[in-house]
Amino acid sequence: MLLSYSTLLPVLMAYAQLAKAEDYEIVGSFIFGRHNDREAKPATVLTPIGATNQYITGQFYRERYFGINSDGERNDTSSTLIKGLNDEGLFVDGQLYAEAISSNVILFSHYAFLQGLYPPTNLVKADYVDEVMAELANGTVVENPLDGYQYVKSNIQENATDAYIHIKGDVNCPSLTSATKKTMKSELWSTYSNESAEFLQSLYEYDFIKETFSESELTFTNSMNIYDELNVNTIHNATVAKEISEDVVRQVKVWSDLYQWTLSDKTINTNLTIGAQSLLGNMVTRLNTTKVKGTPFLTYYTGSFNTMFQLASILDLDQQDERFKTMPDYGCTYVFELLSDSNEDIFVRFSFQNGTSELGQEPTSYALFNSTDEIMPWDDFVTNAKNAGISGVSTWCDVCGYNDGSDTAMLDMCVPYSNLYESAKQLEAEGVNLSSIDIDSDDQDSGSNLTLADAGGIGAGVTIGVFIILGAAFFLFKKVRSRKQTSPVLPLAKEDADHTHSESSTVKSTA
Ligand SMILES: *[C@@H]1O[C@H](CO)[C@@H](O)[C@H](O)[C@H]1NC(C)=O
Ligand SMILES: *[C@@H]1O[C@H](CO)[C@@H](O)[C@H](O)[C@H]1NC(C)=O
Ligand SMILES: *[C@@H]1O[C@H](CO)[C@@H](O)[C@H](O)[C@H]1NC(C)=O
Ligand SMILES: *[C@@H]1O[C@H](CO)[C@@H](O)[C@H](O)[C@H]1NC(C)=O
Ligand SMILES: *[C@@H]1O[C@H](CO)[C@@H](O)[C@H](O)[C@H]1NC(C)=O
Ligand SMILES: *[C@@H]1O[C@H](CO)[C@@H](O)[C@H](O)[C@H]1NC(C)=O
Ligand SMILES: *[C@@H]1O[C@H](CO)[C@@H](O)[C@H](O)[C@H]1NC(C)=O
Ligand SMILES: *[C@@H]1O[C@H](CO)[C@@H](O)[C@H](O)[C@H]1NC(C)=O
Ligand SMILES: *[C@@H]1O[C@H](CO)[C@@H](O)[C@H](O)[C@H]1NC(C)=O
Ligand SMILES: *[C@@H]1O[C@H](CO)[C@@H](O)[C@H](O)[C@H]1NC(C)=O
Repeated sequence: MLLSYSTLLPVLMAYAQLAKAEDYEIVGSFIFGRHNDREAKPATVLTPIGATNQYITGQFYRERYFGINSDGERNDTSSTLIKGLNDEGLFVDGQLYAEAISSNVILFSHYAFLQGLYPPTNLVKADYVDEVMAELANGTVVENPLDGYQYVKSNIQENATDAYIHIKGDVNCPSLTSATKKTMKSELWSTYSNESAEFLQSLYEYDFIKETFSESELTFTNSMNIYDELNVNTIHNATVAKEISEDVVRQVKVWSDLYQWTLSDKTINTNLTIGAQSLLGNMVTRLNTTKVKGTPFLTYYTGSFNTMFQLASILDLDQQDERFKTMPDYGCTYVFELLSDSNEDIFVRFSFQNGTSELGQEPTSYALFNSTDEIMPWDDFVTNAKNAGISGVSTWCDVCGYNDGSDTAMLDMCVPYSNLYESAKQLEAEGVNLSSIDIDSDDQDSGSNLTLADAGGIGAGVTIGVFIILGAAFFLFKKVRSRKQTSPVLPLAKEDADHTHSESSTVKSTA
């Protein structure tokens, strides 16, 4: 009896799960998508096939959540509809929250997806607007440009600003950079370098490789750059596609996957995953807003693969499927859906769609945080995510090592959270005139030009060490006060190149 019961139990449980799944309703969704097909790094160009595939991916989610297919037909009974989203598929401010960084490939991928999510729609027919005022006094009816192109609001983040860390928490982060360097000096790295050396060196026989890399660059440490060049050029260049077989590209990918995973694996060093940690922290805030307020129904962020590798590590996705240790396809999406059951209890379900080739199928769900259930109660999700993630600029600055007493150059946005800044504020509150302890502006960091005279009203007996600290504090203080408000502008080509480059660790591109 016991035996047959235990054999049956998983089946019964699976059945219960299946029956349950039908009862859930999607009430919100957070989508984190990778950019699409581009030129080799450093890249500034999103290609036409890249834009097209982003557009198609946007359409896929339009069908999933709005129930409207690419022919504009709506299925009112679709089980994946999010009720409350405009039923004509129009952009309504507050229903979507979107965020990307201002570097071409990511930004353009972001817009192309949004164009698919909110395609041109002729407002003349819309119920959402009472009156579109298409008609003029003289009877002429004027149509919208571009067939009713929809203007979708998004939040574009610039380098080194507070919200930049949502998508690019790996950039400007000294402790992540040092974790990367440390990993690259490890025994493990040396083993991988030795194991891959023969194969990578053998690539030198190919003309394309010879034109692109020197022989000494054919190393494990450079394997992501090699893969990137091969991947891009076998997609776009007929000569290269003919010369280098898919099989060779696949073999290179085995090493570049290992390279990227090793630099994203929390079990090697948790600081390698700070990018994903700050994304996860922000995701909880966003999903919580949807849960508490009901809107926005959709949140869409666009970023890059290195954050996805890190996410896979902190969400324990590699425990579910080894393929999470490998490069996901262009345009793939990590999706976190908020589900509500008949008791209005809220759950989170994660699924992954591996690029355009998988679209059309139901996205595959995976259990998060090494749980056994693909549908996780909200409170469990929050508890796990709080353990694995970080929230807020102050914490990020701390974790990135801006406050650890080392001589790391201070990032402006981290100044208000630094210990010295706190001390300076306190001193000022105690009546000390910090302006009287100025230091030579060419030598701000050392404070070596301080003299007792500079210290003005501060009593004798104060040591030079304290002057240095106070001087530094004052410098920070001044820096924050004079902080300029920078306004978002269209990105420069150089910045773009740098951003896109930083996607794969700190290794300099050779191309
Ligand atoms: C509409 O959605 C329902 C539920 O998901 C599905 O069973 C049905 O086939 C869909 N209808 C069409 C026309 O796609
Ligand atoms: C009506 O006004 C519009 C805009 O001024 C003009 O382009 C159009 O020619 C006018 N139509 C007629 C019939 O006058
Ligand atoms: C890798 O090869 C180098 C040079 O042959 C050797 O010095 C080093 O010990 C090897 N490292 C490992 C981990 O095997
Ligand atoms: C394609 O690759 C070949 C070999 O590297 C190169 O000579 C050629 O210029 C490339 N073609 C284009 C259009 O980039
Ligand atoms: C969600 O938002 C509510 C209301 O602002 C707040 O009380 C709660 O702490 C938040 N929960 C999380 C997990 O952030
Ligand atoms: C996604 O697709 C790529 C390319 O086909 C593959 O290498 C990778 O393992 C896939 N990832 C997952 C998680 O399925
Ligand atoms: C995940 O769960 C499995 C089975 O319980 C366990 O063997 C494994 O060590 C866990 N992995 C992590 C990273 O916690
Ligand atoms: C991670 O970075 C923090 C802040 O710089 C540092 O204190 C900590 O030792 C680092 N952890 C590891 C494992 O390197
Ligand atoms: C603080 O010191 C500066 C520079 O010595 C001086 O200009 C300023 O008047 C002082 N402020 C106060 C409130 O004493
Ligand atoms: C981003 O900002 C940091 C800090 O100001 C700066 O060091 C870095 O060069 C900037 N990167 C780019 C790509 O502009």
